[in-house]
Amino acid sequence: MAENYTTNDFGIPVGSDEHSLTVGPNGPILLQDHYLIEKMAHFNRERVPERVVHAKGGGAFGTFTVTQDVSKYTRAAVFQPKTKTETLTRFSTVAGEQGSPDTWRDPRGFAVKMYTTEGNLDIVGNNTPVFFVRDTIQFQDFIHSQKRRSDSGLRDHNMQWDFWTQVPASAHQVTYLMGDRGIPRSWREQNGYGSHTFQWVNAAGERFWVKYHWISNQKQEFIEKHGHEGFSAEEADQMAGIDADFHRRDLFDAIEAGNFPSWTLKVQIMPYEDAKDYRINPFDVTKIWPHADYPLHEVGVMELNRNPEDFHSEIEQAAFAPSNLVPGTGLSPDKMLMGRIFSYADTHRYRIGPNYAQLPVNRPKNAVKNSYSQAGPMSFENYPKDQPTYAPNSYGGPHADASRTTENNLVSVEGDVLRSAPTLRKDDGDFNQAGDLVRKVLDDAGRYRLVGNIAGHLLNGVSEPILVKAFDYWKNVDADLGARVENVVRGAQKEGAGTAATENKPS
Ligand code: HEM
Repeated sequence: MAENYTTNDFGIPVGSDEHSLTVGPNGPILLQDHYLIEKMAHFNRERVPERVVHAKGGGAFGTFTVTQDVSKYTRAAVFQPKTKTETLTRFSTVAGEQGSPDTWRDPRGFAVKMYTTEGNLDIVGNNTPVFFVRDTIQFQDFIHSQKRRSDSGLRDHNMQWDFWTQVPASAHQVTYLMGDRGIPRSWREQNGYGSHTFQWVNAAGERFWVKYHWISNQKQEFIEKHGHEGFSAEEADQMAGIDADFHRRDLFDAIEAGNFPSWTLKVQIMPYEDAKDYRINPFDVTKIWPHADYPLHEVGVMELNRNPEDFHSEIEQAAFAPSNLVPGTGLSPDKMLMGRIFSYADTHRYRIGPNYAQLPVNRPKNAVKNSYSQAGPMSFENYPKDQPTYAPNSYGGPHADASRTTENNLVSVEGDVLRSAPTLRKDDGDFNQAGDLVRKVLDDAGRYRLVGNIAGHLLNGVSEPILVKAFDYWKNVDADLGARVENVVRGAQKEGAGTAATENKPS
């Protein structure tokens, strides 16, 4: 067998892995040691900028298998009966940086890339079905309030609550965040949601509105073992100290051990015409569609069964984008989704480089790429030899399919150009669904944990007058909940009880 010699990046064998080229054993290093220079220079360029949000995460490859027949709602090849498709799924926290603990309270990203035969379909969602704001123009301010202060470089609960209490649209998502879902026990245990409303289009061209739900098949087992989903604030704080990479490790180890986690994909389907007069704005990402109105339909199962071999090239450089919509799927007029359609590919060109789509993890694996994109930094795919670089052309280059001009788009919009909140519908109040979550979904023990989590968060750096605004915010969600939060916080302030202060536990 040939010796396994070290080479430089061009395959040329090198003379030493230990010693630089010097004049004499104690002498200065020579500039002609280009192997040393290659090592240093490459090392200096080892990082790409971290994601501006969702920087800390991990992921794995898997398979999505269609188990039910939803072909009357969508013609997407990936959703046709029995189809199997390779997937990549990345989980993440939102606000923290690359090294931040996995168990900080935050929504979790749940991004799925499906390498379909019609191109890559990305469903870039979270572990909650709603979001904090409903217009793209507020996203940057919202994220700034969650990130670090410009002066001290510290995160600051006071600015988080200052933002939330001034934006009542946030109440639904903040209720999720302060509850058990705010700190999942593991990524395997959490559900995922596309959150926005999307379109499905069937073979006859009929359109439907859909919401994606990834239901964890591990969650019930976790709940039976621990009493409820998620970590308590104390368990999470402790875990942040013991193992900041706890969630990344949990997923990796489970897959290494052959314990493959899976999620069942279900969709809520709304007939196209229903959207016009449904009692809740169906395109508002701060709202859910009650299941009593639009029940879940099973589509298939995703199993994660292959760890990345190279974290950097397969996870760090992975680029998910809500604009990656295959035939049979499409957009809705959600004002957040509209912004995201631009934002992701834009950040990828900056974060990874203009040819990020050529990387093995991002390029279509099961569809042919037939585009006119060419050249640019780090281009490594040869442009097809006989293909003209322009369209139209007379030499057999690819031509667009005219039947697809509106494939993934909105097909009718109307109205004057203006800046305005969406027209309010009967059940569109900002606090309605948050209140329902507190009163109808949580039990006494869940409400008790919620009061404790909110009070603990407020006692950790929130000052007047934001505290009073926070009490009012929660009283708007639910009068009793707000009063309880106020009691705990005021009581703890009097007694100097610290951030762990809470009420007497319900029996
Ligand atoms: C990541 C922008 C709302 C889920 C990102 C990134 C940007 C961004 C710039 C970094 C992408 C990268 O570097 O690869 C926005 C904007 C939003 C928005 C402008 C609103 C207008 C949302 C919402 C969700 C979401 C509502 C979930 C429903 C995610 C996820 C990632 C991400 C899961 C990480 C993807 C990955 O794992 O690589 N977002 N985002 N974002 N965003 Fe958003």
